[in-house]
Amino acid sequence: MCQCDIMAFVDIGPLRCSSKRKVGACSVDVCPVGQSRRPQRGRNVNRESSFSVSGWPCATRPHKELLRVQAGGGTGPNDPELEAQLSLGCIGGGNMAWAILSGLVSNKVIPAQSIFVCDRNEKKLQQYKDLGIQVVGSVRELSKCSAVLLAVKPYAAANALSELSPDCRALVISVCAGLRLETLQGMLSPQCPARLARVMPNTPCLVGQGASAYALGPSATAQDSEVVQLLFRAISVIVKVEESMLDAVTGLSGSGPAFVLMFIEALADGGVQNGLRRDTAQVLAAQLVYGTAKMVMDNPDTHVAELRNRVESPGGTTVAGTAALEKDAFRAAVQSAVRAATLRSKELA
Ligand SMILES: NC(=O)c1ccc[n+]([C@@H]2O[C@H](COP(=O)([O-])OP(=O)(O)OC[C@H]3O[C@@H](n4cnc5c(N)ncnc54)[C@H](OP(=O)(O)O)[C@@H]3O)[C@@H](O)[C@H]2O)c1
Repeated sequence: MCQCDIMAFVDIGPLRCSSKRKVGACSVDVCPVGQSRRPQRGRNVNRESSFSVSGWPCATRPHKELLRVQAGGGTGPNDPELEAQLSLGCIGGGNMAWAILSGLVSNKVIPAQSIFVCDRNEKKLQQYKDLGIQVVGSVRELSKCSAVLLAVKPYAAANALSELSPDCRALVISVCAGLRLETLQGMLSPQCPARLARVMPNTPCLVGQGASAYALGPSATAQDSEVVQLLFRAISVIVKVEESMLDAVTGLSGSGPAFVLMFIEALADGGVQNGLRRDTAQVLAAQLVYGTAKMVMDNPDTHVAELRNRVESPGGTTVAGTAALEKDAFRAAVQSAVRAATLRSKELA
């Protein structure tokens, strides 16, 4: 049985809308990409996009909506209600903070003057000032924000959170790998009734094409969930899961960029072995992966195996290649990699 509660951001045609549906044992919440979710209270949404999947085990059937997701999908009308209320503080101004905050400003999700950042390193802060983001001198000054993003290395989290004022009422959103919600709660002052969210982003967030998943703490509200979605969909696909699933997310999309890079490298090596120049082979391999992923995202109703079968002509070159991959246990190797990374994530937590 599928345990996931999937929150997908999807372009579902001219009427871009948001809705929640049951998919087998999964609840799928659909919302446009690169746009804010407008509150849909009491409104009946796009009927055309509704579907029934009874009889399909959730784990084996591709999620149509989820596959329609395009990360970092441009600008769109924002949710004025949520936007007006939101002030975002950010502890740490490193790589992940820059990806998220610059994505928010460039996609016009939140005005730069409603974003505040604090970092120990003055040099890192200039780029934020250049965008119009407010720079503050201490973490404590972020305590009045409605949401605070914790974007420091995991070992620095306890110290950073202890600097928040005890009367901080913010939603605290951590991107720190491996730090559980319970651990984060313990790092906050006992007087601080913070609501918590934990997000697992990945490195392609840095180029606006990430894959992220989040889990909410017990006191977090539905509006907190919307805030997390609003912040991350500017740079990634964002999926809601139970916290227990975040290790599997870490093993798949968190660690996955390294697996895909290794695949690209191996493809390029194969090209070089057959006489291509290294730079030519690398660009062909990278575009191959990028374009094939787009085919999957653009064909949400088609299983990836069917897409593959379409390019395997009987007796042709491609099937000779895929047969070689099967012989060398390619699938088993990839599954082992995800499993090993998931186990390691559990060990580290
Ligand atoms: N980068 C990724 O692709 C990625 C992917 C998934 C998850 N994450 C998570 O994202 C988090 C941030 O990663 P990152 O790569 O952005 O790290 P980073 O580049 O090292 O940025 C963290 C920044 O926070 C500063 N800092 C630390 N403690 C502070 C404090 N108390 N007050 C103010 N500033 C403070 C650090 O300063 P100092 O350098 O002086 O300590 C550093 O400039 C990590 O927990 C990581 O697990 C990152």
